[in-house]
Order: sequence, then C-alpha cells, then structure tokens
Amino acid sequence: MKVNKAEIIISAVSQKQYPMDGMPEIALAGRSNVGKSSFINKLLNRKNLARTSSKPGKTQTLNFYTINDLFYFVDVPGYGYAKVSKKEREKWGKMMEEYFSLRETLKVTVLITDIRHKPTEDDVMMYNFLKHYDIPVLVIATKLDKIPKNKKGAHLTRVINTLDMDSNDTIIPFSSETGEGKEAVWHFIDQIVKK
Ligand code: GTP
Ligand code: MG
Repeated sequence: MKVNKAEIIISAVSQKQYPMDGMPEIALAGRSNVGKSSFINKLLNRKNLARTSSKPGKTQTLNFYTINDLFYFVDVPGYGYAKVSKKEREKWGKMMEEYFSLRETLKVTVLITDIRHKPTEDDVMMYNFLKHYDIPVLVIATKLDKIPKNKKGAHLTRVINTLDMDSNDTIIPFSSETGEGKEAVWHFIDQIVKK
C-alpha cells in the first residue's frame, strides 16, 4: 500500500472520543518501550508521527491515526513499566479493557515483542487477553537489528513457544531501524483492510 495520508485524528482516553465512522482499525499492543510507536512510524515512512522516546511510558492515550482514509492505526500505552503507580496501572487497565472488549471495528491487534528477549508474563497475558476477546493477533518480533542473523530462528521459536501461539497466527520478524519485515507486514495489512 502506498501511504498518501497519515494523520492523527484524536488522542482518546475514553470510548466517547473514539472515531465513529466505522473504518477498520488496527491496534498496537506491547510492553512499554518495546517499539510500538516506532513500528507505526517505520511502516508509514514518517520519522516522528507517532511520538517515540528512549524512556518507557511515552504514549499515554489511545492515539488514532487515519491512513489513506481507509483504516486507523491505534497506538496505545505500553504495559509492564515497573515505575507506574497502582492508580495509573488501574487507569491503564480500564482504558484498555474498554477499548479491546467493545471495539467492533477492531480487525487485528499487532502484539509487539522484543526478539532479543523471552516474552514476559505480561506479554503472555496480553496475548491470552486478545484471544479471550476473539481479536485476531499479528505478532511482531521487533528489534531484529539487535541480534546476529544466525540467531533469528531460535529467537523466533522462543517467542512462538512462550506465547504458546495458535498455529493460525502469524509472526513477523521486524526492525524499525532497518525496515526489515515491512513488506510482509503491509502484505498482511492489505489482506485485512481489503476485506
Ligand atoms: P511506549 O509508548 O512508552 O509504550 O513505548 P513504545 O513501545 O511506543 O516504544 P518506542 O517506539 O517509543 O521505542 C522505544 C525505544 O526503542 C526508542 O528509543 C526507539 O528508537 C527504540 N526502538 C524501537 N524499535 C527499534 C528497532 O527495531 N531497533 C532498534 N535498534 N531500536 C528500536
Ligand atoms: Mg509509544
């Protein structure tokens, strides 16, 4: 897909702010600082459309980006950042539950994991949470540029096994640094938004 238009529509904190035009939606999910916003930027060839940071906790709201007036990317705050207060964690949980359990236009969630590391308990929980709501999942193993090429297979297998991924689900190794995996992701997205 050639991206002609990519614009933020709204940073939402509750359901009444979500766009209601019925366009299909693709949400991100993953640990804080794993590279969700960078993933969006790389796909769109936009350096800083989705704000990124080397410090965890950059994205705090549900950010809706319209892409070619065809679908939305929804960037979400990450989980698993230890320095977050109990109150903030609860707020996050409520916002995510409200979004993922009710959003009818959500076609697939892109669960971003770090290819260098074994998925965390939170990653496993997120994967199971999406399965529970029957939301299709695309798993991305990002930061591929950070491991030696000959370790790729073993690291992917570890992600697949730790998440106990359904054999029907797709996993794509990716790097927001080099753009590796980008074509495979667009191919996947094209199938989804054409439906
Ligand atoms: P929150 O909004 O805090 O949940 O984080 P996020 O998941 O949106 O992460 P973000 O995209 O802000 O990236 C976090 C850090 O990881 C930044 O310093 C990025 O430059 C870096 N990063 C993201 N993806 C990659 C990648 O594929 N390779 C490398 N080397 N660095 C990456
Ligand atoms: Mg972010």
